[in-house]
Amino acid sequence: MERWPEFVQIKEVGPRDGLQNEKQRISTADKIHWINTLSESGVKEVEYSSFVHPKWVPALSDAHEVGRRIKRNPDVRYSALVPNMKGLDLALEAGIDGASVFMSASETHNRKNINKSIDETYPVLQEVIQEAKDAGKHVTGYVSTVFDCPYEGIITPEQVVHVCEQLIEFGVDDISLGDTIGTAVPAQVDQLLDEVLNRFPSEKVIMHFHDTRGMAIANIMRSMEHGITRFDSAIGGLGGCPYAPGAAGNVATNDVLYLLNGLGVKTGMDETKLQEAALFIQNKLGKVLPSKSLAYAASQS
Ligand code: HMG
Ligand code: MG
Repeated sequence: MERWPEFVQIKEVGPRDGLQNEKQRISTADKIHWINTLSESGVKEVEYSSFVHPKWVPALSDAHEVGRRIKRNPDVRYSALVPNMKGLDLALEAGIDGASVFMSASETHNRKNINKSIDETYPVLQEVIQEAKDAGKHVTGYVSTVFDCPYEGIITPEQVVHVCEQLIEFGVDDISLGDTIGTAVPAQVDQLLDEVLNRFPSEKVIMHFHDTRGMAIANIMRSMEHGITRFDSAIGGLGGCPYAPGAAGNVATNDVLYLLNGLGVKTGMDETKLQEAALFIQNKLGKVLPSKSLAYAASQS
C-alpha cells in the first residue's frame, strides 16, 4: 500500500462543532451566507447545524431556519446532528441528506452530554438510525472520548469498539471517532485503529480530531498510514464540545488541506474559496481563528 491515500474526503463541521461552543452569536443570515460559500469549496459534506435542545446549545437554536434556507449544492451532502426522534423529525422537516447520531464511549461524558447512561442511549439511537435509514438518509454514528475522557481519564479501545459494534448493528453507514478533548498522540491512534480496523473496514471509519494540544495533524498522518481516508475538520480551527471542559477547536480544514496538498493527496477542494469562507467567519466572530495556514495566507493577501 502507498504511504498516503490518493484521495481524502473531508467533512466540514465548522457550522456545527465550530459554532456550538462560540460565545459570539452569528446571525442566521450570516450562517446561511457562510455555509453557501463553504458549499462552493469542493467539500463533499457539510454538517450545517444541530437539532439538539436549544437550551443545551443556544448558538444553534436556528438549525431549522438554516436548514430551510441554505442553497443546496447537489455535489454536497448536508448533514446535521440529531440526538433523538424529536431532533430527527425537525431535521427531516428542515432538510438533511445525512443524520449524525452521537454518543460517548465514556459513561460520564455521555451523561453530561446527552443526559443518559450508555445503556439508556442505545434504544434511543437505534430508533433514530432505523427511522433515518427508512427515510433514505445516510447515517453517521459519532463516538466521543475515544482516547480520553475529561471526567474518567483513559478510555480503552475495547470500550470504543463495543459502542461501535452496537451502532453498526443498528445500521449506521459509518462511524466517526472523536478525540473530543484533543489529548491523543500517534501511538494512541495506533492502539485504537489496530483494534477498530480489526473489526470494521477503513471506509467505514472517520477520524474526528480536536486540536487542543496541536497533535491533530500528526494524528491525521498516522491515521492515513492505517488506511483512513475520511476526516472531520472545521474551518479556521473553530470548535469544541460545550460538555467537555477543555475541548478546543477541531483541526482546521485549512491546515488539513495545506497538508494534503503538500503530500499530493487529492481532496477536490479549493484553498482560495476555503480561505474566503474562513475570513468571513473570523470577521463575524471578531477574533483570530487558530489555523496557522489561514493566518499565513491572510498575512500575504
Ligand atoms: P433531556 O432534557 O434529557 O431531554 O435532554 P428529554 O427527552 O427528557 O426532554 C426534555 C425536554 O426537551 C422536552 O420538552 C423535549 O420535548 C425537549 P418539554 O416536554 O419539557 O417541553 N427536547 C428537545 N427539544 C428540541 N430538540 C430536541 C429535543 N429533545 C428533547 N432534539 C438531549 C436530552 C439529548 C435533548 C439534550 O441532552 C441535548 O440536547 N444535548 C445536546 C448536547 C450537545 O449538543 N453537545 C454537543 C454535541 S456532541 C459533540 O460536540 C461531540 C462530537 O463533535 C464528537 C467529538 O468531538 O467527540 C459530535
Ligand atoms: Mg467534536
